[in-house]
Amino acid sequence: MIQTLDDPSLDGVAVGVRIDVNSPVSGGDLADDARLRAHVETLSEMLDRGARVAVLAHQGRPGGEDFSSLAPHAARLDALLDFPVAYCDALHSEAARDRVAALAPGEAVVLENTRFYSEEYMDLDAERAARTHLVERLAPAFDLFVNDAFAAAHRSQASLVGFPEVVPGYAGRVMERELEVLGTVAESPTPRVYVLGGAKVGDSIDVARSVLERGLADRVLTAGVVGNVFLLGSGVELGAQNAKFIYEGGYFDEIDAAGDLAEEYDEVELPTDVAVDRNGDREEVKVQALPTDAPAKDVGAETIAGYSLILENAGTVILNGPAGVFEEEAFARGTEELYHVATAAGHSIVGGGDTAAALRRLGISGFDHVSTGGGAALRMLTGGEMPAVEALRR
Ligand code: 3PG
Repeated sequence: MIQTLDDPSLDGVAVGVRIDVNSPVSGGDLADDARLRAHVETLSEMLDRGARVAVLAHQGRPGGEDFSSLAPHAARLDALLDFPVAYCDALHSEAARDRVAALAPGEAVVLENTRFYSEEYMDLDAERAARTHLVERLAPAFDLFVNDAFAAAHRSQASLVGFPEVVPGYAGRVMERELEVLGTVAESPTPRVYVLGGAKVGDSIDVARSVLERGLADRVLTAGVVGNVFLLGSGVELGAQNAKFIYEGGYFDEIDAAGDLAEEYDEVELPTDVAVDRNGDREEVKVQALPTDAPAKDVGAETIAGYSLILENAGTVILNGPAGVFEEEAFARGTEELYHVATAAGHSIVGGGDTAAALRRLGISGFDHVSTGGGAALRMLTGGEMPAVEALRR
């Protein structure tokens, strides 16, 4: 059983809380603060209950353009919360430990990007993670540890799995809700329909195979680049430009896997038409009329109508990835219409990351649950291991 914030007393208690605010960064500032907003509830509740809060988080990956300090994140949290949030440019040095010790009840400090320290970016089991400098030095400063970083819970990294080995561990409100929803998809109302779009083809095929094998999906609707790869795998010729895009995008290995899955399971639905870009205009092309010399950027009107019928009658819809190049107005229609219809299903769940960003951009809301996790949500949907969740369970 995992303990939640319902359980401990927090008055005057020093809490180390791991959140996931890994965000797009542009010119040294945050380009999107959705992930910070997601943690406002957990942080506010703890601070309101008198906790002294030290925030741990990562930003980017070593070497990446978005591998940066958490100073802008601290400033944004300070603006979002009704409690003071400071920033400390150290993680587990004496300066950081003194800063945590000096916190008053209702005060928070964001410590430095955990991934600035190489031991954090290693795959360590909980026992070894507990022996890292990070955990050995910082854990004594905490009375308890809260993990609210669902979006990173598929990683086995020190700040995620090490602390609950040595201090009592609890799930924050984001973590609690995500586990409640994504952990119970198998019991959600049927018919259960998965919509798999976007460009993460390998991940989508893994999800499709896993839910079909486990009997969890009544239908799997393919769209976006995923749909195009399924068409190619089923022997449809898309045309030289589209094939080039798919080969150059590194999706070559997925084509056969997609074809095999579509052949094996009748539940898999493929687009019956696509919308191509004809000099900036949307042109509908039936699958029988393919190949085309123009790039396919969305599912076509007939596919949207067919998929909508299935979605209208669904008990549960689980969506991941946009249906087309939604950033271009002419090709946003598939994503807009399918996601909109899905909000009317009995129960609608959206996998996070890029999909959540697309929905915000298109102004589509009304889902029962929009996950904060990209890779983590996919891992849950395939029934894979979640080391940071297991660490809380121990
Ligand atoms: C994410 O953005 O999906 C999480 O923050 C995990 O980041 P990672 O894939 O770099 O581990």
